This record gives sequence, structure tokens and C-alpha cells, in this order.
Amino acid sequence: MKPLIIVNYKTYQESSGKNAISLTLKLHQISKKLRDYSLAIAPQVVDLKEISKKNGVLLLAQAMDSITYGANTGKILPESIKESGAKGTLINHSENPLPDEEIKKQTEICRRLKLISVVCAFNLTSLRTVLSFKPDYVAYEPKELIGGNVSVTSAKGHTIREAIQLAKEKKVKLLLGAGVHSLNDIKEAVKLGADGVLISHALVKASNPERFFRI
Ligand code: G3P
Repeated sequence: MKPLIIVNYKTYQESSGKNAISLTLKLHQISKKLRDYSLAIAPQVVDLKEISKKNGVLLLAQAMDSITYGANTGKILPESIKESGAKGTLINHSENPLPDEEIKKQTEICRRLKLISVVCAFNLTSLRTVLSFKPDYVAYEPKELIGGNVSVTSAKGHTIREAIQLAKEKKVKLLLGAGVHSLNDIKEAVKLGADGVLISHALVKASNPERFFRI
């Protein structure tokens, strides 16, 4: 299985609304040329439906709620995520953290609806907890490095090795994220034993995403 690169669109202007569509078209073209990696994107929930009409790469939501059909104003219904064309969701991103019980419920909902669960953990303690929920992926993202230009792969050697070991023991795929800003960082993550990366600003804000991938 090829390493997975998930591009988190967050709410950057460069990846919202119309810009989300044009970025997606670019990334779709890139994905056709990428031989060594699979690409996935996580746009804002409000952009999912429009993007899914034009998109050829794996589509994920950034978040949802552990609710069922009913009176839940302002919440995000998992069934609607699925209907939008998304194949899975991020859960517990450090910019949108959740109580453990909610993470567990959302992981179970993903299993029931056959959605891919990507649960984020921002330190080893939270990683241990979320691994016990058996998601499809965990994304290990040390909080203090998110949005910066120091990559998790160069700054956190010892904890990365431990994170990778913990995920292997539980047979859960592990992504690394935070500060990943070059193709070399991605290669390094894979070399360290990760199953891919979760990346945002370096790719979303890149003036030329093709150049980022050197294609
Ligand atoms: O979800 C990806 C993330 O939080 C890392 O963001 O901008 O450091 O790649 P960034």
C-alpha cells in the first residue's frame, strides 16, 4: 500500500470556497502523476458536496459529530458526511479537540457507516488513548509544531519512534503531521516507518503545488 498524504484544507483562504475547488483540481492532476504516494484531501465540510463532483482523490471531512438524525442544530450528521461523497473524516484535530468519549463514539460511527477514521493525537498520552479505539489511522501531530516550519520528522525523533511502535503494536496505520513542509520531510516520515503524513499550510499555500512534489 502506498504511503498516504492527507492535505488538510483547514479554513485557509487559499483552500476555501472557489479556491478549494481550484486547489482540488490541481491536486487531482498531481495525484495522477504521483507514483509513490496516494493523495487525500480534507476540505471544510461546507465545501465537500461541490468538491466531490469534481474530485478524483480520496475525500475526507475535517470533522463530524456523534449524532443521529433529529434535532441537533448546528451539528454535523455523519450520514450527511457520507452522502456528501466523503469517504471518511478527521477526528480530534488539535484545533478542534474532543473528549475521549466523543472520539470513541465517532470512531464507532465510522466503523458502522464504513467511513475511514483518522484520529489525531497531539502527544503520546493521547495517542495511547485513541489507539485503544482502533481507528483506521492515527495521526500523530505534536501541537507545538503545527503551522510552523520545523517538521515533526526532524524535531521529535524519540517520540516518533515510540509513536510508530505503539501504533504497530495495535496494528493501526500511523500518519505523522505538523510542520511537514517538503517532499524530503514526507520521505523521511516514511523512512521512519510512518504510513504517510497529514500536511496543511506548506501545500495549501504553495504557489505551485506541482513544484512541491517536484513533478
Ligand atoms: O492537520 C495538519 C496539521 O495540523 C499540520 O498543519 O500546517 O503544520 O502542516 P501544518
